[in-house]
Amino acid sequence: MIQNKSRDMHETEHDAIDTHRVSLKLSPTAVALHLRSKLQRRRMAKDLAETQGNDYKCARFHLTLKINYKHMKENKILVLGGTGKTGRRVAEKLTGLGKAVRVGSRSEKPPFDWENQETWNDTLEGMNAVYITFQPDLAVPGASETIEAFTSLAVKKGLQKMVLLSGRGEKEAQVCEQIVMDAGIDWTIVRASWFNQNFSESFLLDPILAGQIALPRGETLEPFVDTDDIADVVVASLLEDQHDGKIYELTGPRLLTFKQITAEISKATGRDIKFKPLSIDEYKNMLREHQIPEDFLWLIDYLFTEVLDGRNSSVTDDIEKVLGRKAKDFSEYARETVAAGIWEPAN
Ligand SMILES: NC(=O)c1ccc[n+]([C@@H]2O[C@H](COP(=O)([O-])OP(=O)(O)OC[C@H]3O[C@@H](n4cnc5c(N)ncnc54)[C@H](OP(=O)(O)O)[C@@H]3O)[C@@H](O)[C@H]2O)c1
Repeated sequence: MIQNKSRDMHETEHDAIDTHRVSLKLSPTAVALHLRSKLQRRRMAKDLAETQGNDYKCARFHLTLKINYKHMKENKILVLGGTGKTGRRVAEKLTGLGKAVRVGSRSEKPPFDWENQETWNDTLEGMNAVYITFQPDLAVPGASETIEAFTSLAVKKGLQKMVLLSGRGEKEAQVCEQIVMDAGIDWTIVRASWFNQNFSESFLLDPILAGQIALPRGETLEPFVDTDDIADVVVASLLEDQHDGKIYELTGPRLLTFKQITAEISKATGRDIKFKPLSIDEYKNMLREHQIPEDFLWLIDYLFTEVLDGRNSSVTDDIEKVLGRKAKDFSEYARETVAAGIWEPAN
């Protein structure tokens, strides 16, 4: 009788695991591997139940999910904005580690466009985790609705982890962060300061090639951070459980103003690059003359008025805490960029 009861329980448990296996698209081998250490899991579940006050069955189920997820991490990772400044590096590093990666962007197949929800489903198909870099910025009006819709679809499609790139000091972006935190799956939030690579892979490259950086907020101290460091933290967050439920604030090791950055680039390139201070209105007018769209000007206004008001004028050691090494200094980034020939004008 006792034996039958135990067999019944075993069968019910087995059915439950099998249903779970199919819904999570795990191979029978992966499940067999989990079951091999069943006894050990029983003990761990008891400990978990005792420490967290859950009942034993609930704790065991929780543990099974965690263990299944560990195996799923060996599977597919979606990198949104995977051709951009952080995404490209994250995709390359993951691929280098032998992970299966899908890049999401408008130019990929299948295409992914934040502005067209119909493109999301195919890109999410078969993915287990996602690195989210939103466009143009989590603080823009409407971003939270888009993130809400995206995260619910991601959860529905069976994803188990989201790593979100956010902007340091952007209160509006924190609404989106909270949506990711509340989605019911594992998450890590990576809040970054201004990227070094804005000077070599973005809107500040052309002014450097032309010999003059003209910007507002020339005196604000900012801890510019390298996207290589951000990518390393993101990769660790995607692959290692200890980063679940963490918010990281990533900065470089040194506070610099745009004026000082200009001097650093001048020194590294050996060229005379000038800094011209502008008011925010002068800067926006200059961008308007270059036919920059009004919604981008809204973002410029927000970033230069609110975020660059000095609130981020402090460094953190989160990069060192996660990676066990110092964050890259701007001078090292400048040396590498010079060596790559990126700041050499065409003639
Ligand atoms: N730049 C900084 O200093 C900084 C600092 C902190 C936080 N952030 C945050 O980092 C995120 C990325 O910003 P970023 O300026 O550095 O850009 P980025 O990652 O270099 O962005 C380019 C990437 O986004 C893709 N993309 C552009 N528009 C898209 C759209 N509508 N739908 C889907 N993919 C799109 C591009 O590919 P396709 O063109 O092929 O679509 C490309 O892969 C933003 O959320 C920003 O707020 C930036």
